[in-house]
Order: sequence, then structure tokens, then C-alpha cells
Amino acid sequence: MRIFSGIQPTGAKHFGNYSGAFRQFVPIQEEGEAFFCIVDLHSITTAFEPEELRESSLDLAAMLFAVGLDPDRSTIFVQSHVTAHPEAAWLLSSIASYGQLGRMTQFKDKGERQEFISAGLFTYPVLMASDILLYQTDVVPIGDDQKQHLELARDLAERFNSRYGETFKVPEGRFPPTGGRIMDLQEPERKMSTTDGQPQGTVLITDPPETIRKKVKSAVTDSGSDVRYEPEQKPGISNLLEIMSVATGEPIPQLEARYDSGGYGQFKSDVAEALVTLLDPIRMRYEELRADESELRAVLARGAAKARETAAPTLEQMYERMGFVRP
Ligand code: TYM
Repeated sequence: MRIFSGIQPTGAKHFGNYSGAFRQFVPIQEEGEAFFCIVDLHSITTAFEPEELRESSLDLAAMLFAVGLDPDRSTIFVQSHVTAHPEAAWLLSSIASYGQLGRMTQFKDKGERQEFISAGLFTYPVLMASDILLYQTDVVPIGDDQKQHLELARDLAERFNSRYGETFKVPEGRFPPTGGRIMDLQEPERKMSTTDGQPQGTVLITDPPETIRKKVKSAVTDSGSDVRYEPEQKPGISNLLEIMSVATGEPIPQLEARYDSGGYGQFKSDVAEALVTLLDPIRMRYEELRADESELRAVLARGAAKARETAAPTLEQMYERMGFVRP
């Protein structure tokens, strides 16, 4: 089984990334041949600083190892090191429809908040499709916000296969049963995000314990005092229940039973402690791994070599089937 997922390097990684993505990556790497891609080419589609981009790709590599990815088992690499990705994206853009790209909710949301909307932000999902399809991927572990992009990748695979002959596997998404969409602590109707959310509402994986406690303590809660999972009526408390369930592995009904009518105070402080217990060791491992930059670069170089070799035959087939004269 082939597994592929991508993460943008810019912006500090937060608990939403952990819950929707990293947490799934660790067990899934045992199920097959996994590729995890630091998608730096995606990160230039909204405003960015070149110096930050350079640093953050190495930051993310250290983070992926800190959460438990094993470089001997999985391939971890930087997208721009494998030129097949933008090449395949160009070829796929010829079968992607302008209308479908315009309906992508992430494009509409992000577009609304940008002063300058780049063409890259619009074609972004085509590059994501090429990431996935080049590896003949079976399963894509992602958070709920990437579902629509995965659907587009599936549509492009099917369209290419029917127009030019069977070339791509049609991938399936894998979403976590709980915590597939973690919300901002300050604005629980919006997803947690370093680019669109509020700093106070976003728990960073590298936040020290005191910062985590402060953020959880000031989380917006709902009227009433019952700790119950009702995302429509109680978005704040329901989000905290999901966070605690992800952090401790306890099912939500069990947590509801324990905290029911005990008030929000104790519950919030326990959520904060659960987060500290989960994230503190990750932060410490991260700091250790991040300090050895030459080792990180060496692992990424090995990853890129493996990724290039794996992606090359599919790209070659695409050119062949589309009728290009090959050199
Ligand atoms: P990105 O970098 O925004 O997010 C990385 C992963 O974290 C998940 N995630 C969340 N999960 C739960 N709650 C949240 N609040 C939350 N925020 C983020 C995302 O669903 C994702 O799994 N387009 C992708 C990157 C990408 C990709 C790919 C993914 C590029 N190519 C190929 C899979 C396969 C993105 O911007 O993710």
C-alpha cells in the first residue's frame, strides 16, 4: 500500500496539524510505503518571506521526526527537490477546469483575505493532485479541510485515465474519526490555523506549558455549564472535548460522563494538562533534532533521491500518453 501526504512548511505547526495529520502519520507508516512531503512550492501561493521559507522547511522536517516519523521506514522529502511535481502539475492543469478550481472553498476563503490573489493560489489544488498521483497513492491521511482538494485529485485521475489511458491510481482519503477539524480556541466557528486564526486561539506544538495553560484558560466557552458534545449549540466546549479526546485517547462520551455538570473550570484545566503532557515531550525532541541541521539535510537528501526515483516512471507515462516527443 502506498501512502502520501503533504504539509506546508510556513507558519508554525499547531495542534490542528497534529490532530488531523501528524497523529495519523505515525501508525500509518507501518501499513505500507509512506511518503511525507514538505510542500514548499505550495507555501509561495500566499504572502511569504524568503528567509522564513528557508528556515521553516527544516523546522518542519525536525517536527515530523519529533512526532514519530521514522526516516528508515518512511520517505520524508522537500517538494521542490523533486521537479516532477511542478512538471506533472502543468500537464494536469490542462484537464482541470477553471470552474471546479473556482469552487474550492480554501481558494475562496483565502482569496477573500488576501490583498493580492496569486494565480498560484488558484491552481494550488492541481499541484496537490500531482503530488498525490505521481506516487500511485492508495491512501492520503489528511484533516477534514483537505477533503475537497482530494476529491479534485480523484476527478483529475479519472479524467486523465479515461482520456489518455489507465495511468493513475484513484486515491482514497483517510480522516481521523475524532479531531479531523480542530477549531480556533477564540473563534470556535473557525478552524485552528496559523495563517487565518488568532494567535491566542492557536495552540502551537512548540508552545511551552505556561503558554498552553493560558491559551486554554482563555478559550471561549458557551453559555451554561454542562460539559456536553453538541457542536451546533456548544462549539467551544465541543472543541475542547475533541482536543482532550485526541490528547488522551479517551472517547468523548467517557469524558462527558466524567465532567458532566462539574462546571467548566476543572474541565479546562484538565484539558490544558492533557495538552502539556502530550506536547511537552514533542517540543523537547523537536528542539534537539532541530539543532542538528546537517543531519536533517542528509535525511532530506536521501528522501528526495527515493522520491525522484519513485515519481519518474509515472511522469514519463504522462508525457508518453499525452503525445510528447521524448528526448
Ligand atoms: P496544511 O499544511 O494546511 O495542513 C497540514 C495537515 O494538517 C491538517 N490540518 C488540520 N486538521 C485538523 N484541524 C485543523 N484545524 C487543521 N489544520 C490543518 C490538514 O488537513 C493537513 O492534513 N494542501 C495541504 C498540503 C498538501 C497535501 C498534498 C496534503 C499539499 N500536497 C498532498 C496531502 C496530499 C495543506 O495546505 O495542508
